Amino acid sequence: MSERKLCIGLSLATTWLTGNAWRRPESRVEKICQTDFYVDYARRAEAAKLDFLFRPDSLFLNPDTLNQSPGLAGVDPTLLLATLARETSRIGLVTTASTTFNHPYHVARSIQSLHWLSQGRAGWNIVTALDGNENFGMEVMPDADARYDRAMEFTELVQALWQSFPQAARLNDRAQGQYVNSAKIRPVNHQGPCFSVKGPLNVPASDFGRVPFLQAGASDRGRDFAARVADAIFAATPDLEAGAELVTDIRRRARDHGRDARAIRVLPGLSLFLGRTRVEAQALYRDTHADQNPQRKYAFIREALGLDVSELAPDQRLTPAQLPDPQRPVRSRTHADLLRRLIEREQPTVRELLLRPEVAGSAHWLVVGTPDDAVASILERFRAEAADGFVALPGGSDASLYLFLDEVVPKLVEQGVFRRDYAGSTFADHLGIT
Ligand SMILES: Cc1cc2nc3c(=O)[nH]c(=O)nc-3n(C[C@H](O)[C@H](O)[C@H](O)COP(=O)(O)O)c2cc1C
Repeated sequence: MSERKLCIGLSLATTWLTGNAWRRPESRVEKICQTDFYVDYARRAEAAKLDFLFRPDSLFLNPDTLNQSPGLAGVDPTLLLATLARETSRIGLVTTASTTFNHPYHVARSIQSLHWLSQGRAGWNIVTALDGNENFGMEVMPDADARYDRAMEFTELVQALWQSFPQAARLNDRAQGQYVNSAKIRPVNHQGPCFSVKGPLNVPASDFGRVPFLQAGASDRGRDFAARVADAIFAATPDLEAGAELVTDIRRRARDHGRDARAIRVLPGLSLFLGRTRVEAQALYRDTHADQNPQRKYAFIREALGLDVSELAPDQRLTPAQLPDPQRPVRSRTHADLLRRLIEREQPTVRELLLRPEVAGSAHWLVVGTPDDAVASILERFRAEAADGFVALPGGSDASLYLFLDEVVPKLVEQGVFRRDYAGSTFADHLGIT
């Protein structure tokens, strides 16, 4: 068996502009809707031989959150990655498409198109989404069970559509004037609870192998869905124990579904505030988060836990006894459970709680330090099987991003846990899947 290696993605969600970072004179925030803004990052990530570029996405806009930071507002992820396909040649391009608000025919078409245009480098991050119902004619957000039922039907339908116009149907027979053998094009004829689709898809299957699937959402239903269909999970695991629990559980679920235990890579988000010294890195982190209005954090805690901490003294400790029913409906079970777990384990004060990544709404693994600190943290989690890799979310400035690519990644290569060069040319090749 080949030696286990890290799988590494770089988020292009401009995480290095969040907080106060976009206010730096050199941030180029005016350009975030233009291809040129991303080309240099994409090429550098490819020069570092990363597995993939990753663009999360949402289909709604909360103008209140835009007062202070650009957040996820920006261009369509699949279109952006299609423009980057021309500027790169090996790195995977993972787009995000919600199964709650899209239609499978559209998603099958746009991702198969990205796969063609990038010569086999497309990936699909499958999300069931958290907000946006009012943009799609729904008064309330469908509950998690309904979203995952729809996600399963949606995903199977996309796969069926991708097979509906196979390569073998294309004859390209100039002499006989026959472009396809239409008998080999198969309609899908799907009638299900959520969708009715005849097919076939109007984009042919490609020669480039399959499109790998990422998934985000780690509730019981989310994990089960991932165990059935995903090649990798984009996870929120703020500490090693949360990562180890997720990896163990996903390996077990994969086996239960008749898959190889290691078929699904767990890739936590890794927020990196890097400096040449720890003092420099801590200053970067502090400056990025200075003067932030705590109202969003209060609102996040209120929604996730049913607890209003805004009236409590900063030194008051929070205990599990203060938390209402753990099964009450929440926006994201994954994030609510992570927050509840933190209070059960650490009983933090209100002040301590407000400083934790779990209440920033992302709950990602955080390293504030030097490139060596980042390498040590990555090796620790990888060797403890608390992660199979990660999605890098550089923070503070693009200097942090460059330190990651120019120093952290080469050190991981030296340690023998990351590739020196690409062995293949498609995203599936990088993941070692067929
Ligand atoms: C780490 C992480 C990243 C996510 N990224 C996105 C995203 O980019 N777009 C989106 O619409 N939803 C995103 N989600 C939401 C999930 O797709 C899902 O709807 C949500 O977590 C609820 O599912 P759960 O109950 O399994 O957690 C993300 C969730 C997690 C945990």
